[in-house]
Amino acid sequence: MSESLPPHPPVPVRRSRDGSVTIIRIDNPPVNALSRAVRAGLLDALREAVADPTASAIVLCGAKGCFAGGADIREFDGPSLDPSLPEVCAAIAGSPKPVVAAVEGHALGGGCELALASHARVLAENARMALPEVKLGLIPGAGGTQRLLRLVDAATALDIIASGRFLAAAEAQGLGLADDVVPARDVVATAARRALARAGAAPTLSEQPVRVGDVEVFRSLAARVRARARGQRSPVAAAELLEASLGLSFAEGLALERSTFLELRASDQAAALRHVFFAERRSAEVPGIDRSQARDVTRVGVIGAGTMGTGIAAALLGGGYTVRVVEPDAGVRRRAPERIAEAARRAARASGAPVDLAGLTVGDGIACLADCDLVVEAVFEDADLKTAVLRFVVDATPDGTIVATNTSYLDVDRLAAATGRPDRVVGLHFFAPAEVMRLVEVVRGASSSATAVATAFAVARRVGKLPIVAGVCDGFIANRIMASYRREMEYALEDGALPHEIDAAFEAYGFPMGPFAVADLSGLDIAWARRRRLAASRDPHERYVPVADWLCEAGRFGRKSGAGWYRYVDGKPMRDDVTERLIKGASSVRGIARSPIPADRIMQRALAAMVEEAASILREGVALRASDIDLAMIHGFGFPAWRGGPLFESGRFGAAAPADRTASADP
Ligand code: COA
Repeated sequence: MSESLPPHPPVPVRRSRDGSVTIIRIDNPPVNALSRAVRAGLLDALREAVADPTASAIVLCGAKGCFAGGADIREFDGPSLDPSLPEVCAAIAGSPKPVVAAVEGHALGGGCELALASHARVLAENARMALPEVKLGLIPGAGGTQRLLRLVDAATALDIIASGRFLAAAEAQGLGLADDVVPARDVVATAARRALARAGAAPTLSEQPVRVGDVEVFRSLAARVRARARGQRSPVAAAELLEASLGLSFAEGLALERSTFLELRASDQAAALRHVFFAERRSAEVPGIDRSQARDVTRVGVIGAGTMGTGIAAALLGGGYTVRVVEPDAGVRRRAPERIAEAARRAARASGAPVDLAGLTVGDGIACLADCDLVVEAVFEDADLKTAVLRFVVDATPDGTIVATNTSYLDVDRLAAATGRPDRVVGLHFFAPAEVMRLVEVVRGASSSATAVATAFAVARRVGKLPIVAGVCDGFIANRIMASYRREMEYALEDGALPHEIDAAFEAYGFPMGPFAVADLSGLDIAWARRRRLAASRDPHERYVPVADWLCEAGRFGRKSGAGWYRYVDGKPMRDDVTERLIKGASSVRGIARSPIPADRIMQRALAAMVEEAASILREGVALRASDIDLAMIHGFGFPAWRGGPLFESGRFGAAAPADRTASADP
């Protein structure tokens, strides 16, 4: 047997020369994360360049069109490893030879901090800079906060750090973070010229004063950051750190930044947000489906210009698709372009990227869908109507067109079978408002082709959504879990709690709204109609709380009718005697002696209901893995991401989280 030599370990940092300029290149695929080997390699390369008498300047860049995707997030599960990133940044900033960062692609987190520690920054037109650490429960920990405070005023620094948003090259230049913006092919050469011209040196950022700016503007932004955090520590810690830093020297600020970073690094919130980060990447792995099976999509049809159809159309336009909306009702059709434009503006506010409406047409005839690659039906949630529409679309479009149904509850297999071509049909369940909500369930029918699933998945990703694969069942993943905890909360009402107490418990836990406020916002009538439809098949022994039915019988359909679980005064929800009398009536009919339920007990019950339903969902194979359920709850129903989702959270408290269906096959 021939013995092969062990493979040469890849070198994650490479050094080369361009005249008297040393080029130091990070090469650690896929995103040039700053692992321990990269940090050590950077320090070695810097030392050698500084010691080399023939080198007069240094350019720092990244291989394969990416500067650096930040700290290696996988390392955060263990202890800090030397050399640390602050050490590398200090070596760059303190280099006696000028170091200029040549940024192509992403310079994120620690990558952005390396660039900020450099003596100048040249950005390629495609560069994106960000300090997204708060999204991982952290703050920048390698001097990023202190250096940023010396480039932009405190309010701008807080905006950048607390939002973690990506800055395009032009914005970075406008803010003073970039010295030059050039085409990508010129970025290293321009940085080399700048580095040579700089030899002899201007003061580094650490020698400059903090740019305080308008303190009142900073304080009011900090107050908004606190209000929006809903229990998440990292953005609040960023605001506190920046405020404290305004009165500190660079060295004192660095020390405070580091201690805050290390404290957050060890926190449960950071662990939960890392779980979410990797869960999002893992959710793209679908057994039996390969990304390459997706068909190319340029034209997408949307049937129905109601709330869902207009939101879906706006989301698709945001992904750069040509969108053809078909709406038979003349009045609705006339208003559709403006409603889509409004939805597109909301989408742009959420994503920061403007939406181009030029690709939109609205018509009444299905004939215009004949050359669409994908058609999404978004008509009213009625099985007969959807069946008829899907049949019509399948007949009117070529064989290769994928046909998606945007249903929340209906049986996708049944709908698909009725078309005679179930292989072409897939569920694409958007959450309202579709232009803003990130979650999309891709419902894989028993006969959906791999192409149909891969295409739906790819389109959802391109429009910036988070697609999660779900199997066919009543409510799929997210709505099924929501129904389970809402039912449990109705039991809690009968047992002694009141809607405002339950909603307050959810908000204190980190949800943006509680279940009764959400129900009022969505409207109580659709669920009522569904309950009436299912009444005959309901198990007579099942505990059933009639209060929602009584509210609807009284014409209280939620916010839109002025009353539901709450009464609305000037749009504000108020506790309502009528609702509370009905709830107490339900308790006495059931013979329950009501007693108050504390907030933590309310949340324990809600979480237990979520976990129990999740176990069934996994057992039945409706979800591929536990982490997909966490994502569905976070992005579909506002479960706080910093708690990691219901299954991650329950695992932390010792309850056995239900096992992944893919755990062994798909590690
Ligand atoms: N550390 C370790 N791994 C990372 C990473 C990081 N900072 N950033 C990305 N990766 C991994 C992903 O887990 C994924 O691995 P996989 O292929 O095994 O699933 C791979 O790199 C590609 O990432 P993905 O997000 O799928 O690629 P993308 O092209 O869509 O996006 C980025 C690239 C860099 C924009 C995105 O990954 C990102 O935002 N990363 C995090 C950046 C960050 O927050 N840095 C600060 C850390 S404190």
